[in-house]
Amino acid sequence: MARVNIGIVGGGLIGRTHTVGYHMMKTFFAAETKDVHLRMIAERDASLARETAERLAIPEWTDDWRKLVSSDQIDLVFVCVPNDMHREIALETIANGKHIFCEKPLARTAAEAKEIADAAERSGVKHGIGFNYRKAPAVQLIKRWIDEGRLGKIVGFRGSFVQDWGLDATGALSWRFRKEIAGSGSLGDLGSHVLDMSRFLVGEISQVAGLLSTHITERPIGAGGLGHKAEGGAVKMGKVDVDDICDVLLQFENGAQGSLVASRLASGKKNHFDFEVYGMKGAVFFDWERPNEVLLSTFDTPNERSGFTRVLTGGFDHPYGEALWPIQGMGIGFGETFAVQMYEMVKAIQNDGSANPNFRDGLRINMLCDAIQKSAETREWVSLG
Ligand SMILES: NC(=O)c1ccc[n+]([C@@H]2O[C@H](COP(=O)([O-])OP(=O)(O)OC[C@H]3O[C@@H](n4cnc5c(N)ncnc54)[C@H](O)[C@@H]3O)[C@@H](O)[C@H]2O)c1
Repeated sequence: MARVNIGIVGGGLIGRTHTVGYHMMKTFFAAETKDVHLRMIAERDASLARETAERLAIPEWTDDWRKLVSSDQIDLVFVCVPNDMHREIALETIANGKHIFCEKPLARTAAEAKEIADAAERSGVKHGIGFNYRKAPAVQLIKRWIDEGRLGKIVGFRGSFVQDWGLDATGALSWRFRKEIAGSGSLGDLGSHVLDMSRFLVGEISQVAGLLSTHITERPIGAGGLGHKAEGGAVKMGKVDVDDICDVLLQFENGAQGSLVASRLASGKKNHFDFEVYGMKGAVFFDWERPNEVLLSTFDTPNERSGFTRVLTGGFDHPYGEALWPIQGMGIGFGETFAVQMYEMVKAIQNDGSANPNFRDGLRINMLCDAIQKSAETREWVSLG
């Protein structure tokens, strides 16, 4: 089995989550990943890099990502830094012939994403993108049912991914509130996951109509991730130039229609990602707050028993059941989706296959985000080729 030495660039929220995914992968997929090793971390905050490497027994650390992406010791690079750095790091990683996994969104704009996706495809390296919610066994089960035709022709999709940390107006003007770094706000951060889910389950999206708004228009200047406070009681304010809330109507190529909402101002909602898919023979409902279950309705069920039935996922009959927990309902969480995601990326390298989703999907999501922003500006539907 081919050696796959992994390097992670970025030690923030999602860099840490990939280290969790790595350790879970080594446990759940032990035999297939014995030659896979997390070898190096690059993080611009040197003390965080050192501390992470020491704590997790990662052999090497650096505060210069170029050292990681050019190291002979590294075969696969995970890009886990803010969106403005994806392009530069990805292009250099690809130029060095290394396989690459990039966090979502692939880039700030479709133009940047196209440069990255084209470079990856030209070079022949394997490329994957971090739409991890696809990897929940419940979502894979829904996909299986749709592909088997159990829901009939799909006609409708509704999805929402909403959080409430943005309601704190004293939260720092972190990179997530700055267009030059993030590209967009709730749209690219949360809406991109819903767009990916809808494409995965329903099909390609051909037209969008978007409505975006920003309600907290300035915030204290400061660093930090999700809702971190500005340091030292800073009072200097900076402008928020991305969306807090985003609503979108979706037209799919196959005739289905749908809608999505993404928001950072949804009081009481912490990491609330749910969706419904409606077919002519049945429907499903999934709520990430209950990641071990799918609600399924089939229209031919006699009236006295009609409605949604709860199917508890996991165990041998369901996707990933052999590898993850052996009994239904034992518990799937955020970490498991990262374990499966990393495992599938490694398998794409070892078996000379394709990662799924990959940079082509990432590009399409960036194209959709651009189209949604254009639609919100012009107040007109925007078509994609
Ligand atoms: N898949 C998901 O569910 C999910 C969730 C959160 C974030 N993300 C994505 O992950 C990426 C990172 O987000 P995050 O939440 O971890 O952000 P974060 O702010 O928590 O962490 C980013 C880290 O990158 C480091 N960094 C910045 N520039 C760097 C550079 N040039 N070299 C090395 N390190 C550098 C920062 O010091 C920080 O530690 C973003 O693209 C985001 O959209 C994905």
